[in-house]
Amino acid sequence: DGATTFYDAVGGAQTFDDLTRRFYEEVARDEILRPLYPEEDLVPAERRLRMFLEQYWGGPRTYSDERGHPRLRMRHHPFRIGPIERDAWLRCMHTAIDSIGADRLDDDHRRALVDYMEMAAESMVNSPL
Ligand code: HEM
Repeated sequence: DGATTFYDAVGGAQTFDDLTRRFYEEVARDEILRPLYPEEDLVPAERRLRMFLEQYWGGPRTYSDERGHPRLRMRHHPFRIGPIERDAWLRCMHTAIDSIGADRLDDDHRRALVDYMEMAAESMVNSPL
């Protein structure tokens, strides 16, 4: 029927897998972000972000099947997220997005992804500093 989701248009599971793997490689060596993660193992956190983003962009709904309604702002309440944490998160995400080749992410798709991430990161801020 010609309807294609953003998820499919940018390469489906492989693209979201690459994006979140690359993002968590950056988190793992980020001095600001790494201490916020309660678990030694970042793999479960990587999987939750991957499932969430896949669902948000029109892919499988595994995130909500497993976790229910996202309620992301509430789920981030245990972590102090000020402008410094927001910027660190975005730095990692920009690096991850830049690592996805132009064959999968054209300029419009890249722009949509970056705009969304900037809006989402800002909306997670729960501390003035
Ligand atoms: C969970 C940090 C922004 C999506 C988490 C966790 C931490 C964290 C420490 C717990 C790790 C875990 O799940 O085991 C941050 C910081 C942010 C940020 C410092 C800075 C702004 C975002 C944004 C999104 C996001 C913008 C979505 C676009 C998620 C998801 C989970 C999560 C889906 C798992 C929620 C669940 O099902 O329990 N985040 N996050 N985060 N974060 Fe973030």
